[in-house]
Amino acid sequence: MSGYTPIRILPGEGIEVLDQTLLPHEERYLRLKTVAAVAEAIRALRVRGAPLLGVTGACGMAIAGQEHGAGPETLAQAAAELKATRPTAVDLGAMINEALAAAGEAGGEAERRAALWGFAERALARQRERDAALARHGRELPGLEGAVLTHCNTGGLATGGEGTALAVIAEAWRVGRIERCYATETRPLLQGARLTMWELGALGIPGTLLPDTAAASLIASGQVSAIITGADRIAANGDGANKVGTYGLAAVAARHGVPFYLAAPLSTFDRNTPSGDAIPIEFRGEDEVGGFGDDRWSPDGGGVYNPAFDVTPAELIAGIVCESGVLRPPYGPAIAALTARNG
Ligand code: MRU
Repeated sequence: MSGYTPIRILPGEGIEVLDQTLLPHEERYLRLKTVAAVAEAIRALRVRGAPLLGVTGACGMAIAGQEHGAGPETLAQAAAELKATRPTAVDLGAMINEALAAAGEAGGEAERRAALWGFAERALARQRERDAALARHGRELPGLEGAVLTHCNTGGLATGGEGTALAVIAEAWRVGRIERCYATETRPLLQGARLTMWELGALGIPGTLLPDTAAASLIASGQVSAIITGADRIAANGDGANKVGTYGLAAVAARHGVPFYLAAPLSTFDRNTPSGDAIPIEFRGEDEVGGFGDDRWSPDGGGVYNPAFDVTPAELIAGIVCESGVLRPPYGPAIAALTARNG
C-alpha cells in the first residue's frame, strides 16, 4: 500500500517480518528461519492482526518443513507449537490446518516442502485479494461519512494486504465520503497510537488520536458518524471477538444511535464456534499493564486483569463487511450460507 509490507516470504529459506513492536520509530525487518523464532515473534506481537497471523502461521509451517523435515509427525508438532502462541484469532489455526492439508496432498519430502512454501505464498496473495474486495464492499456503508472511529490496528500491517477496517476507511476517504479518522490509542500495547496513526499518515488520511477513555464522550458529542473495527474471530451467530475495548465502543455507539460495523475476511468466521461465550480469550502478562517496555509506573506484585480481546454481541453490530459483501442481521443464517459456500 505505501512502500512497506509486514511480511516477506523467502521460499526455501524463511521469512522477514517488520518488527511492529518498534514502530513507528524504527522500521526493522527480522529474518526468521526457525519455528521457535516464528512463535516468539507472534507471542511478542512483532507480527500481529488476525489475517497476518494466519499468513505467518502458514509460513511457520513451511519453515518447519525446512528446519525439521516435512513428515507428518514433525509438522504436527510444529502446528501445535504455533497454534498455542495466540488462541483468539481463528485465522492462525485455520491457515496452519490448510498448510497441513496442502502438505498431506503432496508426495515425497521435497514435494511436501515445496507444497508448504507454495501454500504460504498463496495465502499471502489470497489475503491481498480479499482485502481489496472487502474494502470495495465496505466503502458505501451507511453512516461512513464525515468522521469515523476505529480501534486497534487493522491496516496493511495487520493483514499483509491493504487491511480490513482501515482499508474500508481508506476507500471511503478516496471516494470523498469521509474526512477524518479517530483512532483510539488501544491500551495497553498502543496499536492505535503507534500503528494506526502511522498508517493513516502514510495513507494521507487526517487522523486524530484519543485516549481509549475519551471515546465514550466523543461518541456522545455527535462527532462520530460510524465506528468500524476488525475482528479476530466471528462466531456462527455473529458475536465478534476483537481487541479489548471494542465491546465498550459498540455499547456506547448503540446508546447514541451510531452504527457499529465489523470488517473481516472469510478466514475470520468460525462456524464451529456457536457464540461468543465459546471464543477463547487470550490473557496477557502483568508487565504490559504496569508499564510500557522498560518503563514501570505501577508497584510490582499487584494483581492485573489483562484480557487482549473482548466479545461484542451480534445485536450491537449493524453489519459485517467481508470480501463477499456486507452481512446484515440476523447473522446466523447469513454466516451459515456464506461459510457453506466457501468451504
Ligand atoms: O493483539 P493484536 O494487535 O493482534 O490485535 C489485533 C486486533 O484486535 C485487530 O483488530 C484484529 O486482529 C483484526 S486485524 C485486521
